[in-house]
Parts: sequence; C-alpha cells; structure tokens
Amino acid sequence: MRVPIHSSLLALWTSVQIAHAVPAGPRAVSNGYAPVSTPCPSAALVRTASGINAPEATYVASRKAIADAALISWLDKISNTSAFGTASLPSIGLVLSGGGYRALLNEAGILQAFDARERETSVSGLYQAFTYQTALSGGGWFANSLAAQNWPTVSYLQKTIYEPNFAAGLLVPDNIGALSSYGAIVSDIVAKADAGYNVSLADVYGRLLGYNLFTGADGGVSLKMSSLTSFSNFTAHNVPFPIITSIGTDLDIGQCTTTLNATQYEYSPYEFGSWDDGVNAFTQTAFLGSKLSNGVPSTGSCTANFDNLGFITASTSNVFPGLCYLFPVDGNPDFSLGGVIGDLAQALEVLTWSHHLLPIEADSGCQDILVKAAEPVFDILFNEIPNPFRGFAHSYAVSESAQLTLGDGGLSSQNDPIWPLIQPSRNVDVLVVTDIGGDNVVTNYATGGSLVNTYNQAQAHGLTKMPFIPSTDVFASENLTMRAQFFGCYEQNTVTLVWIPLASFTYISDTSGAQLEYPVSETDGIIGNGNAIATQNGDSEWPTCLACAIMKKSTTTLPSECQACFSKYCYAQS
Ligand SMILES: *[C@@H]1O[C@H](CO)[C@@H](O)[C@H](O)[C@H]1NC(C)=O
Ligand SMILES: *[C@@H]1O[C@H](CO)[C@@H](O)[C@H](O)[C@H]1NC(C)=O
Ligand SMILES: *[C@@H]1O[C@H](CO)[C@@H](O)[C@H](O)[C@H]1NC(C)=O
Ligand SMILES: *[C@@H]1O[C@H](CO)[C@@H](O)[C@H](O)[C@H]1NC(C)=O
Ligand SMILES: *[C@@H]1O[C@H](CO)[C@@H](O)[C@H](O)[C@H]1NC(C)=O
Repeated sequence: MRVPIHSSLLALWTSVQIAHAVPAGPRAVSNGYAPVSTPCPSAALVRTASGINAPEATYVASRKAIADAALISWLDKISNTSAFGTASLPSIGLVLSGGGYRALLNEAGILQAFDARERETSVSGLYQAFTYQTALSGGGWFANSLAAQNWPTVSYLQKTIYEPNFAAGLLVPDNIGALSSYGAIVSDIVAKADAGYNVSLADVYGRLLGYNLFTGADGGVSLKMSSLTSFSNFTAHNVPFPIITSIGTDLDIGQCTTTLNATQYEYSPYEFGSWDDGVNAFTQTAFLGSKLSNGVPSTGSCTANFDNLGFITASTSNVFPGLCYLFPVDGNPDFSLGGVIGDLAQALEVLTWSHHLLPIEADSGCQDILVKAAEPVFDILFNEIPNPFRGFAHSYAVSESAQLTLGDGGLSSQNDPIWPLIQPSRNVDVLVVTDIGGDNVVTNYATGGSLVNTYNQAQAHGLTKMPFIPSTDVFASENLTMRAQFFGCYEQNTVTLVWIPLASFTYISDTSGAQLEYPVSETDGIIGNGNAIATQNGDSEWPTCLACAIMKKSTTTLPSECQACFSKYCYAQS
C-alpha cells in the first residue's frame, strides 16, 4: 500500500500558513544548530590522504580484536571449532546501500538478524564481527538513527522511532508536535545564516530528518557526527567504525548534475575528506565549517557545531541536485515537474520562504526564491560546506573553491558505498554488501549496475582491491540478481565481496525510494523481510556458505562443504 505524499504536504502547507501569520519571536542566541566559534586545535587541521589517521587506526585495532572473538563464536555456532582455520582472521566491512526508507527498513531487518542481541537466527552474531560499516543515503538514515542513540537494537528503534515516525511521514514526523517545531526548525536555520554560513534546502531537509530519525530536544539538534566519539559504545569499540559518503559537484565549472567519476567524500566521527585525486585530503570533522586557507584558519579561530548529525544525514541523502534539469537558462525553475523530489523541495522551500529566511520579493510565487538568490542559484540544492581544502596545493581540483557543494552518496550511480573500504590503507578483506536496489529506473530491485559502476571507477582510479564485476546483461542472463553472490573468490589481491541484493521473500519490499510514509504494518513487514534476506529465506546451507566466503582467503582449512558453496555462489569469470 502506498500513501501519497500529498497529505503531508497539505499538513505542512497549512501549518506554514498559520505560522506565517504569527509574528516571528526573538531569535535564540545559541540554539545548538548554528555553528559557533571555538579555539583551534594545536594539531594541523588538514592533512594529505596518505593513510588512515591515528585515531581511526587505534579504534580499528581495538575493534578488530573484539570482532575476531565474535567471528570465532559465530563460526563455532554454525560449524565447529576445528572446521575453519582461525589463526588469521579477516577484517570485515558491512556496506549499507541507499534506497530511501526501502533501504533503511530492509537493512534494519538484515542487521536485526545479524545482531547477537536479538532473536536467535542462523546468522546472529555476525554484526558483532564487523570492523567497518559504510552507509549512504537511506542506508545513512539507518546508520545514523542507530548511532544517534548509542547503537541500541533495531527492535528498540522499530517500536520507538520507525513505526510511529514513518507512519506520520518525513514531512510530519510524529514527534514534531505542534507547529511550533516548524518554527524551531526555521529559527535554527536563521541562526546558522546569521552566524555567517550559507544555508540551503539541505539544512531544512536535515532538520526534518532529525525529527524523523533521532530523539532529543528539537529533533536531536545537539547531535554531531564528531560527538559520536564520546558515546559509550564507541569508546568501548562495541560497534563497527562508521563512515558515511557524499558526492561532490563542481559548481564553479558550471556543473550541476553529477558525473560518473565525481569525487567521493566521506564523513567519519574523526575526519571528513576524500581519497580521490584532486582532493586527496582530510580535515577534522569536529572543526568542519572553519574558514581555512592552506589548512590555516584565516581568522585565528575555528568553527564547532557545523557537523550537525542531521545536516550530515542530509548530505548523504540529498537528492535535490537531481532537480538541476528544472533550471532553465532564464526564468523560474518549475518544481512541479520534478515529481516527488520536486514536491519535497517545494515544501521545504515554502517552509523557508514563509519565514523570510532566504531572499525573496514580497508577493512573488515561492518558486521565484531561487531566481532571486545569489548566483549560482544551483547552490540551494546542495549541502554547502566552507571548503576546508581551499588553498591546499594537494587538493588541486578544489583549492580555488570557496565552498564544497555535496549531495547524495549515490549521485554518481554507485548506490553501494564500497569506495571507502577498497582504499588500501584500510586493509579490509571482506565486504558484506546489502544492495537494496534503486540503480535502475525500471525496477527497485538491484540490477548489479551499482557494482559495475564501482568496478569501472575503481579501475580508472587504480583501486585494484575491487574484484571483477560482470556486466548487467550477465547479471540478468545468469540470474545473478535473484539471490546472494560472491565476487572476487578467485582473485588473490581483491576483497571478497558478498553481495546480498534485495529480494521480497516474506513481504513485497521493493517500494519506491520516493515513498515517504509507511503504515506500521508495512514498516514491520519490510523489517521482517530484511530478516529473511539475511538468512536467504532460511536456506539451511547459507550460513556455512557465508562463512566459507568470509574465511576463504584467510585460511586453507575450510570445511568440505565450502566447495559446493563456491560452485553455487562464486561468480567465476569464464
Ligand atoms: C568438526 O570439524 C572437523 C573438521 O572438519 C570434522 O572432522 C568433525 O567431524 C566435525 N565435528 C562435528 C561434531 O561436526
Ligand atoms: C551499547 O551499550 C549498551 C549499554 O551498555 C548495551 O546495552 C548495548 O548492547 C550496546 N550496543 C552494542 C552494539 O554493543
Ligand atoms: C572526470 O573525468 C573528466 C574527463 O576525463 C575530467 O575532465 C574530470 O576532471 C573528472 N572529474 C573528476 C572529479 O575526477
Ligand atoms: C556562500 O556561497 C557563495 C557562492 O558560492 C560563496 O562565494 C561564499 O563564499 C559562500 N559563503 C560561505 C560562508 O561559505
Ligand atoms: C534464470 O531464471 C529463469 C526463470 O526462473 C530460468 O528460466 C532460466 O533458465 C534461468 N537461467 C539461468 C542461466 O539459470
């Protein structure tokens, strides 16, 4: 069942109309959203991407020891102690694809089945064995909703957040309360603009995502990406190291739509930046928003609070750059032609416009706002970030830009955030990739297209840890999209990639990425289906086969069943 977006738009419109009639109150001095000035750290703020940073290395070393013990426990559970040689154990990364709420809900179900804290399944305990976790877009919604509450169980989030909030919808989260919350959102964004930072649709979107996915006052406004480092499950290394991706677009050269080779940025609790040639640098997440020149603060002080978790969640899921095509050379963009994303942009714009947040002439239609905004008008579609790599020689592709303009991690047609985990210095051996579709306009099931694009770009960028991926024609003709597949089984120097595509085993779960409201029965149905994806619908051979894939390159001592598993699941280039 699909609930049309219009009911939430109508509710938003109505509340905005009423709010508009109420005179604006005094603006809060510090509301938690606006960036604030802070003393700069003594350590350098920008470094070249020559390896992983020291805090990540420390985290990962501790995490790997915990993950190793969990992997041994899981292997013992599904097999027996001696069947797998465990002298050397792989570093495993979990990759959470995009796909809106479809991705969030199916992935929540997959993780629930993997999690030792939940109901026992054949794969439970595997979550505890991951060293890294990457996510983008809808996967980023899931990852950050989990992180925001110190990584509780999915069962807990399902009852307290997903069921009530998704039934109400993205634009009218259940916990948004009275329309005063919309007023709070607007004053947050006004405060950020007043503090001297560019604001865009992504700020409004991020605040709404906060109400939808987080708890705490004003939609979890005080949560920051960098503050995750102080959460007890992070300090105890109880969770895989979290990374969120976002794609850069070079507006300075007139780009608005994104190219296949666009720069891949990543946010971790410690750092933000990119490994890619042209940027090749990282800065500290906690000081994002600081105005730097060649890594040196231009005003003597730095910025804190810019790395708001909702804003970063919007960065990884910002689909508004997809509306670029609606901007004519002259005249007004017509968002009504933009489908649901256009509707959403228009709704968010109404929210801001009605509060005079962005420049607009009185009585003009709300669409005019973009025309009146400062050039280039495309800015308003992106997450706008003061460029930390300005004047940094290594970052030659962006060193002249005042700001970075970022959008959805899937914008360059790679819907699975594999990129951060095939960087050689991360030393990851196995990737478990949940691919919840959306890489094709015809179907919401996965086609293999995202893997193909990652493979092609990895080849072009010299990232040789990405295994060979066949064409989408081969995926279709050999039925590779119907169940899990292993790639790279027979390539010594690549990761082994365990690809787990969306399938509707127990509930029709291929909902549109544009569906922004889910009745409770659908939320529960898709999470249940995610459980079934994790066990490949209860296939009794699957847990052993998954273990065979995970252990293949770390030992020659494998149970005899592995041979049949490799014949069944490993893609072999003929
Ligand atoms: C445990 O694994 C070893 C090595 O593969 C095998 O010889 C033995 O039969 C297994 N024991 C049980 C109880 O399955
Ligand atoms: C996080 O910490 C809480 C409280 O100590 C604990 O109950 C929970 O299981 C932890 N989460 C993980 C993923 O270990
Ligand atoms: C993408 O490729 C084009 C053509 O080779 C090149 O001009 C451009 O700089 C590349 N962009 C990035 C971000 O690497
Ligand atoms: C805001 O955006 C404009 C246009 O791209 C840019 O010139 C300016 O430097 C940005 N301001 C800040 C504070 O980043
Ligand atoms: C793919 O699946 C279809 C339908 O189940 C089947 O007819 C066909 O033989 C399969 N092709 C291969 C190569 O397994």
